[in-house]
Amino acid sequence: MGLSRSLLLWASHQRWLGRQAQRRRFTRRAVRRFMPGEDLDSALAAGRELQGSGIATILHELGENVASAEAAEAATAAYEDALSRGADAGLDAQVSVKLTHLGLDVDPDLAERNLRRLADRAQSVSRLVWVDMESSAYVDRTVALFRRVRESSDAVGLCLQAYLRRCADDLEALLPLGPALRLVKGAYDEPASVAWPRRADVDAQFLSLASRLLQEDVRRRGARLSAATHDEALIARIVERARGARVPAGEYELQMLYGIRREAQQRLAAAGHRVRVLISYGSDWYPWFVRRLAERPANVWFVLRNLLPG
Ligand code: FDA
Repeated sequence: MGLSRSLLLWASHQRWLGRQAQRRRFTRRAVRRFMPGEDLDSALAAGRELQGSGIATILHELGENVASAEAAEAATAAYEDALSRGADAGLDAQVSVKLTHLGLDVDPDLAERNLRRLADRAQSVSRLVWVDMESSAYVDRTVALFRRVRESSDAVGLCLQAYLRRCADDLEALLPLGPALRLVKGAYDEPASVAWPRRADVDAQFLSLASRLLQEDVRRRGARLSAATHDEALIARIVERARGARVPAGEYELQMLYGIRREAQQRLAAAGHRVRVLISYGSDWYPWFVRRLAERPANVWFVLRNLLPG
């Protein structure tokens, strides 16, 4: 991992830096590249625009590592609202949540109750709740909690990170549940003992796991692939594998983040792929925003350019 990426990921944990950044107008302006606004209304408006191009949505209210049951309750209520309002607006809008936003650090039972509430709401409006994957310290607890909720609800899906050495084992162990699985490369700073340090290894594991999820026996069990990446070479190889395995384009999904590779999102949707874009909103954007910078340190220049007038 490059020094600039490590430095940015270190900065993402520094709350005092976050307080400074959130006060500065130039960072607020830069954040707008990755999110349409801080409130749900802005996210829904962006979702409507995407839907006009045949692109579905995932709503993600920013927030993580809450330290009280009240904050976890507020996050859960906000997500219930997002599910209902997205459905009322006629949007194909799922939600994506971090278990530490639902109270995992406070009490795992609380986080589980909150995820069940969201699964119930999602079920009632025929939508899905994605569970994000956070840093490796949370992976065991996240997989176990997801498994318990998935055993009684189809309305939840899980994110798995291809950079983790354990990822293939987690995926195999989850397949009997026939779940929706979102593959990502992984956004956190992990030691080499836990995550593949070389990009080529991460990409190879991503392709191999995506191919596994495209296999006939896996799909017959109900498992579904959502490949969440902006890496167009990787996407092309996944599409090629899907064609080779005669998997129709409607049976797997490509996911990207709002504001990143917009032209590719439009092009893929126009070519008949199922494309879903994750739209973040909320005022607690600092750690999330710095992780976006770390994914492409050249983005820092974009932020600095915002310092210039005009
Ligand atoms: P890669 O980093 O190789 O980027 C490929 C190309 O895409 C780059 O060359 C660049 O052009 C462009 N690009 C990528 N990121 C960019 C950025 N920030 N700004 C500008 N251009 C950029 N991670 C995680 O650990 N847990 C999670 O729950 C999730 N959830 C999630 C949901 C969805 C829908 C997506 C798309 C991603 C996530 N991620 C995530 C983030 C993921 O792990 C990863 O960090 C990013 O997707 C960036 O990696 P890529 O796969 O795009 O490839």
